[in-house]
Amino acid sequence: MEGAVRPPVGERVISLRGLHLAFGSNKVLQGFDLDLYRGENVMVLGKSGSGKSVLIKCIVRLLVPDAGTIEVLGQDVLSLDQDQLDRLRVKIGFLFQSSALYDSMTVQENLEFPLRRHWIANTRQQTDTLVDEVLTAVGLAHTRDMYPSELSGGMRRRIGLARTLILKPEIVLYDEPTTGLDPITGKEIVELILQLQRVYNTSSIIISHDLNVAKLAANRIALLHEGVNHIEGTYQQFLASDDPVVKRFFIFM
Ligand SMILES: Nc1ncnc2c1ncn2[C@@H]1O[C@H](COP(=O)(O)OP(=O)(O)OP(=O)(O)O)[C@@H](O)[C@H]1O
Ligand SMILES: [Mg+2]
Repeated sequence: MEGAVRPPVGERVISLRGLHLAFGSNKVLQGFDLDLYRGENVMVLGKSGSGKSVLIKCIVRLLVPDAGTIEVLGQDVLSLDQDQLDRLRVKIGFLFQSSALYDSMTVQENLEFPLRRHWIANTRQQTDTLVDEVLTAVGLAHTRDMYPSELSGGMRRRIGLARTLILKPEIVLYDEPTTGLDPITGKEIVELILQLQRVYNTSSIIISHDLNVAKLAANRIALLHEGVNHIEGTYQQFLASDDPVVKRFFIFM
């Protein structure tokens, strides 16, 4: 398997500066900075409860930080009105920590859901074409009429990914895409993430604890520790790092 493609240097698609967010006395983000460039996969590593999910929820303004700035595709996310925010969110795919499929809907209906919500693809034929395309992309064309309960965990994860892709996002935020899967299925998801980066030229932030993600999918790794971006580097740089926090992670990965 090829590793992560080298992204073209240049355009910044996400820029986070000085993010602070506390829940009462629980100071989660304490001045977090991160940049994401077009075509690049950045992995965010951090121990459980360090604020990784909080961080990516801030990017799509599901949570509003107490201080700091968030720029996505050139727009100042925190000052957008609701319409502008909705339009921006169409360009950002969000793969939640659980795949969050609707159990009462078939795979096809689950995939159509974001199209309907955003008034995209109005005719039956347009919808079917898009559903076909993403189902084929994740290798599950035969599951169209199945219900989530009839799928394995790995398949549900893929359908979750297909649902994220159907809007053709420029940016994808992955919250632990391989957690809870066996190593082989996890690796298949990593391959899929790489394939999507290549085919759709998506830029991604991937939250993960998975060594395969670090090794194969991440162009760069950022370590969230005590509310800040403690250190950044490639997988090789992390492996060779003397930083005690980095070392602790790589021993357990
Ligand atoms: N809506 C919320 N209200 C109050 N506290 C919250 C909320 N969301 C998250 N937190 C707190 O923020 C901290 C960071 O949570 P977060 O979910 O970002 O952790 P995480 O790094 O994603 O952990 P994990 O690896 O277990 O998913 C935790 O202490 C959590 O309790
Ligand atoms: Mg989390």
